[in-house]
Amino acid sequence: MKVIVAKDYDDAAKKAADIIEKVVRDNPTCTLGLATGSSPVGMYKELARRCKEEGLDFSKIHSVNLDEYVGLEPTHDQSYRYFMNDNLFDHINIDKANTYVAKGVGDVAANLKEFNEVLDKTDIEIQVLGVGPDGHLGFNEPGDTLYDGAHEETLEDSTIEANKRFFASKEEVPTHAVTMGMGNIMRAKALLMIIGGNKKAAATKLLIEDKIDPHCPATFMRLHRDATVVIEESLAKEIGYIQ
Ligand code: GLP
Repeated sequence: MKVIVAKDYDDAAKKAADIIEKVVRDNPTCTLGLATGSSPVGMYKELARRCKEEGLDFSKIHSVNLDEYVGLEPTHDQSYRYFMNDNLFDHINIDKANTYVAKGVGDVAANLKEFNEVLDKTDIEIQVLGVGPDGHLGFNEPGDTLYDGAHEETLEDSTIEANKRFFASKEEVPTHAVTMGMGNIMRAKALLMIIGGNKKAAATKLLIEDKIDPHCPATFMRLHRDATVVIEESLAKEIGYIQ
């Protein structure tokens, strides 16, 4: 696993955007695996700038997202479909018909069937990831058992607590989500994790250590042949990775 230490959030965004830009230029018709959260927002902004100002072309790119809250309409401003439109798709020349975010409303079993069918026929060139304070990947929450395919998860209280900042109150945060499974993530050709924000020290420390722990799903990244983690210098110092 390659660790890139970035000076700050903006530098992390640029370094991560460089990696995605290379993938897009080398494979202009590929599928990107995308993620939500505050960590990749800067990278999405930078990619939008490069699309507008430097001709980075997304017109034939496809995408599939990691996860979606159960119970939120795609028009809800905290749904991950809304997030992707608002932070990336509306600012680049991607064809939205080629972007897939699992459905959060309707019949969960049918939505998961569709999500798994999409994943089964998709080769993800690179999967963007963030990490939850409890080490979750996508919404694969820590536990004795992790799952291969797309499935429904009950969110940990720490996840609801961490994500409540985006909602009017904690009660409004959905308690369930559908997410790619660990197998779906691990089958991507490359993984790119951006770690920003606070409360990430414990999970990041475990990720950097030489241990694979289902109680910190992010550590499974270590098993991947082509995994890169971009972390901010302040966090790298906090966990003792650098002086
Ligand atoms: C949510 C998403 C995760 C993301 C995490 C971290 O829980 N489901 O995929 O990694 O948030 O978000 P942030 O980058 O805002 O800390």
